[in-house]
Amino acid sequence: MIDLRSDTQTRPSPEMRAAIAAAEVGDEQKREDPTVNELERRTAELLGQEEAVYVPTATMANEIALRTLGEPGDEVVGEENSHIFISELGGAAVFAGLMTRQLRCEAGRFTPEQLRETVRTGDNTHTPGTKIVSVENTHNASGGRVWPLEEIEAIVATARELGLRLHLDGARMMNASVASGVPAAQLAGTFDTVTLCLSKGLGCPLGALVAGSGELMAKARRLKHQFGGAMRQAGIVAAAGVYALEHNIERLADDHGRARRLAEGLDAAGVPVDLEQVETNFVQVDLAPLGLTRGDALARLWEDGVGLSMTPHPTRLRAVTHLDVDDEDIERAVELIPRALGVLARA
Ligand SMILES: Cc1ncc(COP(=O)(O)O)c(C=O)c1O
Repeated sequence: MIDLRSDTQTRPSPEMRAAIAAAEVGDEQKREDPTVNELERRTAELLGQEEAVYVPTATMANEIALRTLGEPGDEVVGEENSHIFISELGGAAVFAGLMTRQLRCEAGRFTPEQLRETVRTGDNTHTPGTKIVSVENTHNASGGRVWPLEEIEAIVATARELGLRLHLDGARMMNASVASGVPAAQLAGTFDTVTLCLSKGLGCPLGALVAGSGELMAKARRLKHQFGGAMRQAGIVAAAGVYALEHNIERLADDHGRARRLAEGLDAAGVPVDLEQVETNFVQVDLAPLGLTRGDALARLWEDGVGLSMTPHPTRLRAVTHLDVDDEDIERAVELIPRALGVLARA
């Protein structure tokens, strides 16, 4: 099975397992776990933030961040298919009491003008005030698309001018950084809170961090405890994170190269793929011209040995490259996918 469903499908490598086995540990709740402390220190530095807090999942990191930034009744604005809006079971409303305002836009990226048009100041008696802007980079639902630095700078400047706080769902921040060649600290350092996930392209079995100022992270640490995310000898898994930051960042370029090769191979075989949209480790396949439903297509692909997965778009599937997929797998997928979808080669 060539598992291209998600970059969350990786298994820890032998080297990562060796780092796990050798981990120094302590009581993380008391901040006595040296490996967790080291992972938090390195991540804060990587993201250009003062402090980072280790949590089990990126979902928890996002929810803690939103709760840190807003009060019940405040609004959070973001792209309509942002993970925080469509894949966290309404956590922003449940845990932080936030209203959500969803923006429709291209490639997951909204503009300063859209932000200006949307933001409400609140009148203290009727209208909820917009408080938080959330950016997702890379943007999952649009196919792992990257926010260019100048667009981030423009959104941050506009948000500051409007008195808004900024969250970055940078679950795949390191993909964005590697693809754009811009250091993560530059892409993430101007946000109030940042999520980084370790269990996607970075190849850890679990773990994520939320980063921000010392003051905000003090609040985030209390929330982490309240959410049930304060752990004990968590260094046993944090060691995988330290290993990943040392060994698995630059290699994301390989995943991006393989996604491009897959997209080009599929396109050459007549599978509807928009090459322009392939910026990181995602390839989206449009089934509309093929007249197949997503369920049918996924079942046929699975039967033929390739795992793809759904996107929020009603006719699009995605293939995601990662650490456990090599060049040979990609060449095989280039043969198997068109066959499974009943596409006849153009050449
Ligand atoms: C952009 C984004 N943010 C957050 C998450 C949440 O990650 P997890 O499911 O590990 O909590 C995901 C997961 O796919 C994601 O794609």
